[in-house]
Amino acid sequence: MTTPTVDPTRIRAHVERLGALHPPVDLAAADYTLRDARAVRARFAGPLEYMARVEMEVERNVLELAVLLPGVSETDRLFYADVWGPQEEHHGVLLDTLGQHLGMAPAEPDLDGVPPRIRVLGALAHIPAVHEVIRLLYYLTGAATERSAMLAYQAMSDGLAAMGEDAVKTTVVDAIKVQEPGHFAFYRMSALELVQSGALAPWQLHLARLLRSKTFGLVGAKTRAQRTQFGSVLVELGIDQELERNVRDIVRVETQLLGAADQGLAVPGYALAAFRDAAALYRESAVAGVGRELVAA
Ligand SMILES: [Fe+2]
Ligand SMILES: [Fe+2]
Repeated sequence: MTTPTVDPTRIRAHVERLGALHPPVDLAAADYTLRDARAVRARFAGPLEYMARVEMEVERNVLELAVLLPGVSETDRLFYADVWGPQEEHHGVLLDTLGQHLGMAPAEPDLDGVPPRIRVLGALAHIPAVHEVIRLLYYLTGAATERSAMLAYQAMSDGLAAMGEDAVKTTVVDAIKVQEPGHFAFYRMSALELVQSGALAPWQLHLARLLRSKTFGLVGAKTRAQRTQFGSVLVELGIDQELERNVRDIVRVETQLLGAADQGLAVPGYALAAFRDAAALYRESAVAGVGRELVAA
């Protein structure tokens, strides 16, 4: 994989361009006309429930970021507060509304303030050397999350097209899908720039690697039930069919920057294990049984 050289000016220009080209999706432009709501629900209820919740939780994520990165740069702030946050909020509303048109209950995002774990990290982040380590972890988490979202929306778009559900495919899923690559590019460029600039000493990179391997988590999937729900995204959207290749793609930025590639690893073991665990939890769950029955009915 070629590594472009990135500087802060280029990242800033990228964020400004994203803000100008991609205002939050116009909610009034969504067309929820469905040919067969029951079939769409049977196929996509699990992924929709997870994705609506996680997209809506950005409201809390923005608050967490302000605590996590007290020395945030103006470019980072512009991205998460003025560009990314408002876009993701509308993604959440669109998916939640689609779910309700399918007869699903409204999403239940966890918007309860900033958890103690984040406050502890935020206190440590006042130490500049630690701040930069946390900043790198934020970019790596963001890159993996956005890349996962790109795969999930692509699979959902293809599935809806195959079912002839053109209205929601085009005005809901594709309208969201087109905004995710710009988010991924921001995190990827920011992580590259931070490492390439030499701002991190070897011990800081080592600490980042250690923390990432110990704390790697699937976004919005802290509890067993939430991990099972994440598993439904992997299984129902077919991402688990080539899981290793997809996880390699999802975590490529950190594989490259944290040196796993130097050790001959195509994909860090901690990442593959987390995805495998979620897919297995879902397959074992009763939800999968119910889903299969609905599909077979
Ligand atoms: Fe999104
Ligand atoms: Fe996104």
